[in-house]
Amino acid sequence: MILITGGTGLIGSQLARMLVERGEEPVLFDVAPDMAAVKPIAGKVKIVRGDLANWSEVFNTVKEFKVKSIYHLGGMLSLPSDANPWAAYRVNANGTMHVLEAARLFDVERIVFTSTIATYARGAETPMRIDEATVQRPENMYGVTKLFCELLGRFYHKKFNLDFRAVRYPTVIGPGAKTKHMTQYLAWMIEYSIQNKPFEVWVEEDTMVPCIYYKDAARALLMLHDAPSQEIKTRVYTLAGITLTAGEFAETVRRHIPSAKITFKPDPEVVKMMGKGFSYIDDSPARNEWGWRTTYDLDKMIKDFQRSLEQR
Ligand SMILES: NC(=O)c1ccc[n+]([C@@H]2O[C@H](COP(=O)([O-])OP(=O)(O)OC[C@H]3O[C@@H](n4cnc5c(N)ncnc54)[C@H](O)[C@@H]3O)[C@@H](O)[C@H]2O)c1
Repeated sequence: MILITGGTGLIGSQLARMLVERGEEPVLFDVAPDMAAVKPIAGKVKIVRGDLANWSEVFNTVKEFKVKSIYHLGGMLSLPSDANPWAAYRVNANGTMHVLEAARLFDVERIVFTSTIATYARGAETPMRIDEATVQRPENMYGVTKLFCELLGRFYHKKFNLDFRAVRYPTVIGPGAKTKHMTQYLAWMIEYSIQNKPFEVWVEEDTMVPCIYYKDAARALLMLHDAPSQEIKTRVYTLAGITLTAGEFAETVRRHIPSAKITFKPDPEVVKMMGKGFSYIDDSPARNEWGWRTTYDLDKMIKDFQRSLEQR
């Protein structure tokens, strides 16, 4: 059996759809299940309402469903984590400890975890470049908890031989995301414009943020999960996606949706946390070890986004 924590979220529900297409019947564990997100696959998934911060709910689920693979996506995103670091500690840090312990005790064969390039963020004055040698020294609570989880997973692999693997996503863009996080403005530039609503961007026009479409993001998890163990050397893989400034992104949206009303009003708090963003990400370990490639460029992304919103 396959378990997805955060299984009714933006990426989790897409991953669930892909697993159902493969003939699986995944268990979706979520503290606030969004039934609308999984409506098309209702009946083909099992929904468990549970809190990652509550170890017994995690243990019970893993034991009851005889889980063999866990995709661990549940957690609090960037802005909510900084607004309530105590909750982020319980959910992201402790919650991941619970997932790893459940995996160890109940013989789970593989765990795929979703980390973030926010584990690098330092509010730098110039856009950062990321490769395997870049120091991870996050200054926001989200990045701090995610880096802890990466390291904890590596420790469980070394100490208990648990098959832990992870990706570090750039910003993931998709329709219908509800949780506001630092770089959510990219998806909302598209979504508000399609809905003919004005949108105010909270970073400066020259902020560079790499992004990836949610369908690619979910596909990466399947590819990483399925990669043979002998190919897994780096274990935690940064994914690159497409890198544009917020201004260039807005221009592309305007080209597709000429009625778009996008303006910029930087929020000093977010600007302080994000700095100028990221200019380059080396994702060659993912490419070389398990054949990673993105399939959605920005034009294809915006078209698919429009189609998906129309279908809702
Ligand atoms: N969206 C992005 O840009 C992005 C970027 C980097 C990494 N990630 C990571 O990818 C994962 C999925 O992100 P997403 O965009 O689908 O976010 P999302 O907010 O749509 O989904 C997260 C899900 O986790 C659930 N959740 C929150 N607290 C929980 C708890 N205590 N117990 C159980 N479930 C809980 C939420 O209800 C939600 O359904 C997250 O771990 C996130 O940190 C996302």
